[in-house]
Amino acid sequence: MSAWADTSNAPDPARQQALLHLLHQDCGACHGLTLKGGLGSPLTPQALSGKPMENLVATIMNGRPGTPMPPWKPFMSEAEAEWLVQWLQSQKPLDPNQ
Ligand code: HEC
Repeated sequence: MSAWADTSNAPDPARQQALLHLLHQDCGACHGLTLKGGLGSPLTPQALSGKPMENLVATIMNGRPGTPMPPWKPFMSEAEAEWLVQWLQSQKPLDPNQ
């Protein structure tokens, strides 16, 4: 599966790098450096499979009230959050050097 690479809504390459950096630095602080879970739930392809894109994007945009998951709306657009979810759902391992 390579949906992450050829989606029509994909941000430009520089922005993709910035988003993956954010994913590693900021999301990783709670979801674990390898995104297998920590304070936050795992964001592995297995954990996210079958969950509606709409809900996952809404969680990233607005956070989850009552949980530590913060809103990321100030830092990325909805299309970018969607791209991140597609990236997370792909089998691509997170590069620890990002
Ligand atoms: C301060 C800690 C924290 C940070 C930082 C954080 N999260 Fe979360 N996130 C959580 C927690 C806790 C949950 C689980 C909420 C719940 O119990 O429903 C969660 C849930 C989620 C979910 C829903 C998962 C599911 O299976 O439904 C997604 C998607 C998600 N986070 C993505 C992200 C992304 C992308 C980032 C970075 C841009 C991020 N999170 C940063 C704490 C965090």
